[in-house]
Amino acid sequence: MAATSDSAGAPQTTGLIGWIDARFPLTKLWREQVSEYYAPKNFNFWYYFGSLALLVLVNQLVTGIFLTMNYKPSASEAFSSVEYIMRDVDWGWLIRYMHSTGASAFFIVVYLHMFRALIYGSHRKPRELLWIFGCIIFLLLMAEAFMGYVLPWGNMSFWGAQVIVSLFGSLPVIGHGLVEWIRGDYVIADATLNRFFALHVVALPLALVFLVGAHLMALHEVGSNNPDGIEIKKLKDAKGHPLDGIPFHPYYTVKDVVGVAGFLLLFCGVIFFAPTFGGVFLESPNFEPANPLQTPPHIAPVWYFTPFYAMLRAVPSFAGTQVWGVMVMGAAIVVLFFLPWLDRAPVKSIRYRGPVFKIAVGIFVVAFLTLGVCGLKPPSGIYPTLAKYCTVLYFAFFLLMPWYSRLDSHKTVPERVTGHA
Ligand code: HEM
Repeated sequence: MAATSDSAGAPQTTGLIGWIDARFPLTKLWREQVSEYYAPKNFNFWYYFGSLALLVLVNQLVTGIFLTMNYKPSASEAFSSVEYIMRDVDWGWLIRYMHSTGASAFFIVVYLHMFRALIYGSHRKPRELLWIFGCIIFLLLMAEAFMGYVLPWGNMSFWGAQVIVSLFGSLPVIGHGLVEWIRGDYVIADATLNRFFALHVVALPLALVFLVGAHLMALHEVGSNNPDGIEIKKLKDAKGHPLDGIPFHPYYTVKDVVGVAGFLLLFCGVIFFAPTFGGVFLESPNFEPANPLQTPPHIAPVWYFTPFYAMLRAVPSFAGTQVWGVMVMGAAIVVLFFLPWLDRAPVKSIRYRGPVFKIAVGIFVVAFLTLGVCGLKPPSGIYPTLAKYCTVLYFAFFLLMPWYSRLDSHKTVPERVTGHA
């Protein structure tokens, strides 16, 4: 591609690429964002999940486009159009399972991606905005997944929408009107399905793609963090490249291929051998058409919402309103936005933090997973009590962080990154 170089040392391109470069900064973009984007050389397993999130996003967009070609967004036809896709459309079953499994894969990958940021302090200065873009992406992803789940118009789609949308009704003063406005009707109905379709297929994917672009721009502006939590830009060689950095391409493009291969093995395993994942990825009541007269025996959202759903149920309703539960559930997500300012430790990475943070993260993970299980189970037996304790632990992790992160001991952070890619 490169033939000569200009006065600044940047390669001059010829041929077709040269023609494009004279009109559009193709090579410049490639160099700045990929081949000369210096990433820390000590990325590990946890750094697979950003590129995997991108892969799943593309999978959802592409399979979504093909599903839309045969899906009918109307209450009378939606369910049978999905059956038609599964049985009669060539490869329709594969496309649908890629999309439904992709939804769960998205949350697995994004939860792990967020966890990585938490343990290595990637949300800390100067990456606060990058983190905030991530939190907005997470919120939109939840909305996207919820609306997508309603589209097949199965019985769980219908009743799930019924439960979740009616939660807004507990808000004082505006609640009742708001619920009607969201549904576009007095009940969950055709109008609801139509608007959810528009939002799921056009508005939210657009917003997601835009935000992912902003997320990556913010990342490339400040540079990647790493498992040591060291700012590699502080030490540069004579050419101005970080001493502890290596070009993203080819080093990390090749590394990411390994992650993609591992991911695809698991992903295909689920699609071909366990597409419903025992009723966790696709729940059995959703193989029956929506029936306003018959509630499923136990209404539970899909697994990735259950930690938050468990928090909602953990708060008792006062005077017949669930408003406090709704507030707690909302606060569980809002608190994430403040993480960069709640964490006051002098070091970023868990590698150099003291025992208190490590124990706190351990308890947080157990509490979050337990909440996930509680949300899947009917609210009886030990589960409501367990959910209450775990909700307290979830919030304690964040709200006590300014205090314990400052008091905790820490090790000296080395000048240079440790371990090698
Ligand atoms: C569609 C969803 C998402 C996509 C496609 C995405 C993509 C990426 C990519 C490609 C990277 C660089 C590679 C890496 O560090 O692994 C990255 C970094 C990062 N992402 Fe995301 N992301 C998504 C969601 C999120 C969410 C929900 C959060 C947090 C709430 C988040 C927080 C971060 C942070 C803090 C970094 C910098 C990590 C570091 O430098 O150590 N991302 N993201």
